[in-house]
Formats: sequence, structure tokens, C-alpha cells
Amino acid sequence: MAVVKLAKAEFNYVMPVSLVGATVTGKPNFLAVAWFSRVNYSPSHIAVALSKDHYTTRGIVEHGTFSINLPGADLVARADYVGIHSGKSMDKSAVFDVFYGELETAPMIASCAICAECRVVQTVDLPSDKLFIGVEVAAYADERLIADGEPDATRAAPFFLATPPTAYFALAGAFADAWRVGNGYKGGEK
Ligand SMILES: Cc1cc2nc3c(=O)[nH]c(=O)nc-3n(C[C@H](O)[C@H](O)[C@H](O)COP(=O)(O)O)c2cc1C
Repeated sequence: MAVVKLAKAEFNYVMPVSLVGATVTGKPNFLAVAWFSRVNYSPSHIAVALSKDHYTTRGIVEHGTFSINLPGADLVARADYVGIHSGKSMDKSAVFDVFYGELETAPMIASCAICAECRVVQTVDLPSDKLFIGVEVAAYADERLIADGEPDATRAAPFFLATPPTAYFALAGAFADAWRVGNGYKGGEK
């Protein structure tokens, strides 16, 4: 296999798309995110990297709270919309049906498959972004996704961003058993 060095030191991959919510100047505001991850096993934390310039960032800094919401493919146009328009120049508070949990300043989206409200426990100041690490205070799911007491995110038709080719992709389906398929590897292959 031939390896080429890329023009930019950027590791690009296929990322699930979520929506981060915060209260900014008294109103709910959402933006699309691809740079986020669950971090820490217990209690569960969410880390999300947001440009210092984003309107949502102001609200998270002000209140120390945010939400993370997993949209299904039915919400792709609205997710993209809040990812290409800033609350600095328009009111995005009516794009989604909002609900609140225990935190009063972490708006969540009722039509999303899975949502969590988070309290910021650490903020890392990066050159262009702020990395917010929040502990999950509570999580919520669409009851139609519950299988054996747990939400099955694949039922929500999550979608993924790839850049390039700069498009949204659907989940293709399971093809191997996680935490089990590796047992079939007997060594010898590179
Ligand atoms: C699919 C998608 C993923 C995005 N991921 C991120 C991200 O991870 N971090 C970020 O800072 N901005 C990201 N953006 C850009 C923001 O969502 C966008 O600039 C948004 O308009 C900012 O809104 P706000 O100013 O109201 O906060 C993404 C945009 C799209 C469309």
C-alpha cells in the first residue's frame, strides 16, 4: 500500500452530526457540530469543540451549560440550516421544538432521537476553538427507540459528515459484532 503525505496536517474522517444547544441572551440557540465525542466512562462526559466566534459559544461561557442532541435524517435540512446561519445575525430559537430538563439553560430538541443536558466542568482554550467538557446531568430519548431498556441510536437514522467530499452520509448497517469480531483474528496478517 502506497502512502501519500497530505498537503495539510489534518486528519479527516466521517463524523456523526449533532446539534449543540445553549441559552444566548435569554433564548435557545442551536448549531451543528461534528467535532464532539463522549469522553469519560463514568460519569459520562461530552466534549465539544466550538469556534470562539460562534454565538452558541457565548451562551455556554455565560451559563456553563449546554445540550447535545442527535438528529435523525428527517432533520437534515434544519441541522444544516443551523450549521450555516449564526444566531449573531438571525433568531434561530423557533427552528426546533425545545424542552428543558434539570438545567434551566440547556435547551434540548424534542424531535431529536437522543438528547443530553451537560454542565461544563472544564474548558480548554485552543488556538481557534474552545473545547467544552461537560458532565451529563441527564439524558433523554425518543421512546420509539428504546429496545431492551436502552435507546438504539441506529433506529434514529443518524447521519454523518465527510469533508471531502462534503456531503452527509447515512448509516450503512452493521457488518461485524463489536467487542467479538476481534476474537477471530489469529495473528500473522499485517
Ligand atoms: C455539519 C456541520 C458541522 C459543524 N461542526 C462544527 C463543529 O464541530 N464546531 C464548530 O465550531 N462549528 C461547526 N460547524 C459550524 C457551525 O455550526 C456554524 O458556524 C453555525 O452557524 C454557528 O452558529 P452560531 O453562531 O449561532 O453558534 C458545523 C457546521 C456544519 C454544517
